[in-house]
Amino acid sequence: MAESIFMDVKPVYLDYNATTPLAPEVRSAIVDSLDNWGNPSSAHYLGVQAKKAIEKARGQVASMIGAKSSEITFTSGGTESNHLAIWTAIHHFRERSKKTPQIITTNIEHSAILEPLRKLENEGVCQVDYVPVVKGTGRVSVAELVSTVTDCTCLVTVMMANNETGIIQPVKQIFREITALNMTRNIPILVHTDAAQTIGKLDVNVDDLQADLLTIVGHKFYGPRIGALYHRGSDKWKVSPLLLGGGQEYGLRAGTENTPMIVGIGQAAELVNTNLDVYTNHMRKMRDYLRDGLIRKFNLVLEDTGTLDLGQVLWRYVDINMLPNTLSVRFGGTTGSSILHQLNHILIASTGAACHSGDKVSQTLLNSWNWEEEGARQTLRLSVGRETSKEQLDLVLDALESISR
Ligand SMILES: Cc1ncc(COP(=O)(O)O)c(C=O)c1O
Repeated sequence: MAESIFMDVKPVYLDYNATTPLAPEVRSAIVDSLDNWGNPSSAHYLGVQAKKAIEKARGQVASMIGAKSSEITFTSGGTESNHLAIWTAIHHFRERSKKTPQIITTNIEHSAILEPLRKLENEGVCQVDYVPVVKGTGRVSVAELVSTVTDCTCLVTVMMANNETGIIQPVKQIFREITALNMTRNIPILVHTDAAQTIGKLDVNVDDLQADLLTIVGHKFYGPRIGALYHRGSDKWKVSPLLLGGGQEYGLRAGTENTPMIVGIGQAAELVNTNLDVYTNHMRKMRDYLRDGLIRKFNLVLEDTGTLDLGQVLWRYVDINMLPNTLSVRFGGTTGSSILHQLNHILIASTGAACHSGDKVSQTLLNSWNWEEEGARQTLRLSVGRETSKEQLDLVLDALESISR
């Protein structure tokens, strides 16, 4: 059985949507920066040196998304960036109206959007509309989303690409429509996108998107576990800080800066600035190799309703609306967790988002596809990275085949 053949093989990591390793250049930049230990707020040369390194990184991150340095605030990660975006929009509305603000989002957002929104809604701080994505496509309808706008809408937040399905959302089209609506509104609606999964895989440009706020997560693009929030420079609204204190980050995020990690995210952004095409092409090539291998070894089912037998696979996507590195596959006659258990010496992947891998079924999959719980349970999220090779994928493909007979 598979165990004896693959006993000595290091498991192949296909969980790059959960996190990525540090790029060697990022690691060196972080290690070197550990000696740049001055407090960036200090006026003496140690502080100035640290501050300089932070500002260089801010420029690198800004340049990655076509922004200005002054539009980037470093945070602890994607979760904090999302909170900061939500809080900014609510605060901006409340300063101008006594009504309850409304927020529009989708039913497939990351829990770092859904959970804070649920809490704020339960506490009566805002009202939230969770627009469902169209089942079978995994994408939200622009018209349906825009039709939920009210006089009290303060924020539209839609992720650029889903972490589980890899489906790219029509964010640019949504933001274009909202920007047009804003021409005649007293209180503009802010538009935010969580770009955690898109950065480092596809080009992300804030002007092209017309985004007001955009979430950046270092550890999804071979950087460290910190993040940033892009906020468009505007005289109509300002970022409303969640953390108050020593006035760091130009008063938008208090707390003595983590210089080495900020330098690390800057270096990770620099790598994306220089090599994005190479990364994208490699990931797409590897993902497609995996897809083609599965088609050769399994029976690909095109109908997305009904049950699947052992040896059958199913996925729903149109390549143009899909992250280049992701393949969310439903395997008939088994479950995703059973496959991972049987192949734990060969394959490291996941059945859904890393943060709720303990859950029974993924709500995102149920909301995205025409499947019942069985389909969601049978799904494996395979996501390739910069170092994934054909040889690794061949091992995974052979192993998957061996347990499907
Ligand atoms: C789409 C998306 N948003 C936000 C996050 C949260 O990032 P972090 O856990 O680093 O705060 C993640 C991480 O899994 C993600 O995939």
